[in-house]
Amino acid sequence: MQKLIIQGGRPLNGEITISGAKNAALPILCASLLTHESLKISNVPALHDISTMLSLLKQIGTGVATSQSSEVILTAAHLTSLTAPYEMVKTMRAAILVLGPLLARTGEANISLPGGCAIGLRPVDQHIKGLQAMGAEINIKHGYIHAVAKTLHGARIVFDIVTVTGTENLMMAATLAAGTTILENAAREPEIVDLAHCLIAMGAKIYGAGTDVITIEGVQSLHGAEFRVMPDRIETGTFLVACTATGGDIHLKDTNAHLLDAVLDKLTEAGARIDAGQNWIHLHMYAKPKSVNLRTAPYPAFPTDMQAQFMSLNCIADGTAIITETIFENRLMHVQELKRMNANIEVEGNAAIICGIPQLDGTHVMATDLRASASLVIAGLIAQGETVIDRIYHLDRGYENIEGKLSALGAHIKRIK
Ligand code: UD1
Repeated sequence: MQKLIIQGGRPLNGEITISGAKNAALPILCASLLTHESLKISNVPALHDISTMLSLLKQIGTGVATSQSSEVILTAAHLTSLTAPYEMVKTMRAAILVLGPLLARTGEANISLPGGCAIGLRPVDQHIKGLQAMGAEINIKHGYIHAVAKTLHGARIVFDIVTVTGTENLMMAATLAAGTTILENAAREPEIVDLAHCLIAMGAKIYGAGTDVITIEGVQSLHGAEFRVMPDRIETGTFLVACTATGGDIHLKDTNAHLLDAVLDKLTEAGARIDAGQNWIHLHMYAKPKSVNLRTAPYPAFPTDMQAQFMSLNCIADGTAIITETIFENRLMHVQELKRMNANIEVEGNAAIICGIPQLDGTHVMATDLRASASLVIAGLIAQGETVIDRIYHLDRGYENIEGKLSALGAHIKRIK
């Protein structure tokens, strides 16, 4: 099993390029199932979750070609299987995103139930409820969602809870449904807007993506298109937090500050100085960070995917902070690992109270999920001495070449087998 070894205590300085967004690329890859024609997608990050999704699409019968790095051409001319097996869905919950497009295109889909995952239960009842409202007959048997619909029809669907992949699944299904679908209490994440732009480039009629009411007028068929995936706002935020914690001066290229308003506000509150242009962000930090309170909530509020990274920052900040997690019920697992590095954190329900201390101590820690792993990398960068992070396969699901990018910024970090 691979590990990361970090020698902490060095500021970050320099320039790196931000990759395409994992959470935008995953649904956009699935959108290829909606047409016989080819979809050429660029700025696709080289991540484990992306390879898993490409394997799943291949298994369904999609032709996958790569013309150059970070570009993929998908052609779902003849689908040969309508099943997403457990082996794939269990490693990547986003595999549920093939349900809507497969059903809309072929009238049938058989997708393994994702089950629980480390950060919480994460049911898919909203995906199912929406497809049923659009006329699908859905049976859950032997751990699989079996959905059938001769034709899907438009419907007015009010989500009980704001769900990102739920909104994406129904938006994709509705593009080929007969009539108009209205999604209310829809998620407003920028990745949903990116998916909508890709679907519109393929001929879909979608209005209101990025607001909580999305209207989709079904069309007879979609066609091929070329599309560039948006920058990864969570990767961007992770590097910005890392530099705020270690001190230094970094310049991030190919990103977009407008995607990160809530995160940039908190970094400014912590003492960082941030400048941004159309496709870059520059951060300087020469003081000790100040503690920042935060509460996760659906976009445009503070993202749950940045909570763990701010936990590490608060560990060595001046003052006491409270971090409240409202999206997932078990997303404070990094606390135990940070405490092994001497952090002063108490957990009460879904909140963590962090008293800043002068220094973390390097030690052996274990990554428990994707963003928790990122928090341990940041902790390792600021800790005194050596930190060894185990189970970094979580990190490879969502961060492209993280040790290469951090090394380019002057960190002492290496991967060992
Ligand atoms: C997506 C992101 C993930 C991010 C999360 C929240 C992708 C591939 N992943 O995950 O990185 O952390 O949004 O911003 O884009 N829920 C239900 N029923 C449902 C669906 C969701 O109860 O049918 C609950 C979940 O358990 C969770 C909350 O709704 O408590 C939000 O989940 P959701 O937005 O669906 O997360 P994902 O789309 O899985």
